[in-house]
Amino acid sequence: MKAVILVGGEGTRLRPLTCNIPKAIVPVLNRPFLEHQLLYLRRHGVTDVILAMGYLPDPVRECLGNGSQLGVKLTYLVESSPMGTAGAVKNAGQLLDGPFLVLNGDIITGIDLSAMIAQHRDSGARVSIALTPVDNPTVFGVVETDGQGRVRRFLEKPGWDQVTTNLINAGIYMLEPEVLGMVPPSTRSMFERDVFPALVEAGDPVFAFPSDAYWIDIGTPEKYLQAHRDLLQGWGGEVRMDGKSQVHPSARIEGPALIGEGCIIGRDVRIKGAVIGPCCRVGEGARLEEAVLWRGVQVAEGALLSNCVAGDAASIGCGCHVPPGCIIGDGVRIEPESRLERGYRLWPDGWQGI
Ligand code: GDD
Ligand code: MG
Repeated sequence: MKAVILVGGEGTRLRPLTCNIPKAIVPVLNRPFLEHQLLYLRRHGVTDVILAMGYLPDPVRECLGNGSQLGVKLTYLVESSPMGTAGAVKNAGQLLDGPFLVLNGDIITGIDLSAMIAQHRDSGARVSIALTPVDNPTVFGVVETDGQGRVRRFLEKPGWDQVTTNLINAGIYMLEPEVLGMVPPSTRSMFERDVFPALVEAGDPVFAFPSDAYWIDIGTPEKYLQAHRDLLQGWGGEVRMDGKSQVHPSARIEGPALIGEGCIIGRDVRIKGAVIGPCCRVGEGARLEEAVLWRGVQVAEGALLSNCVAGDAASIGCGCHVPPGCIIGDGVRIEPESRLERGYRLWPDGWQGI
């Protein structure tokens, strides 16, 4: 079984975290996001994976190579201009022989893929779509089904007046190869707006695979932080270290927490629920609560970071307060004693005002 992962989006909603790298490799628990998804596929026996890319493909290649370190085989396809979700898979058509999986490249989930594959085979579906319940369906693809699990309607990003169910497209599909015959070649085309609504309209067998398993789309900073909190919660009180770091004996690290390799954690530092990337330095008396630091972040003495993200090589001056929801772009320097507002975003050089 092959899988295509859609990783061609620009990740605009995640900016400034996706100014220099695509959403597919933003670090989640200090590992590139896609690594989590590839390991998920591997757990379900899927190891032959095509990455359909567009925006910033080179860092993804550098990061994941041929996939052998993760026990998967990766094939890269790069679109010269965005082909849309269906167009991107059509583009991979030559490589797809039998039924195959398609995944959005920004979801973390425990949906039972093996059971979904089995249901797809048993049901005689042309397309199976995994569904998950959410509080706000208007920012997703809403999927209505009948009593037998057959899809009756697919409505992408509906208004609240059109929402009839809290079940949405979870971004995992299993498709029969003939579906690609419906997708026009060399044209931008979306499964969600073009292909699925047309199949349903034509009465083709499109089946749902609803699941209550954990599911999140990391496509906004709020969800990115939420995913970290959710994943860390599963660790109980554990403090994990990726490798060797210098931690001052007076520093108090309360789990769950993750500390990357080569960090220097100073005197009287307090850490709780935080994820610290490799080669970070946290100065005396600084406090990190549910903060996510990427690689090489410098946090000066007495700074307080809470439920926020600091990109690669960002530097937070001494005594700064960085409150919840703040997103500090790569390389941004925050002056000492700054008091940021909640949810403030600071852009890396060259991106001001975009
Ligand atoms: N190769 C390629 N080419 N990939 C693309 C393109 C493209 O032109 N456009 C989008 N993608 C990829 C994105 O990188 C992402 O991984 C995935 O397709 C979905 O795009 P998003 O931009 O994240 O869409 P969304 O989150 O608003 O909505 C989608 O996901 C929801 C679940 O998270 C839709 O599929 C919704 O129906 C669904 O509910
Ligand atoms: Mg998304």
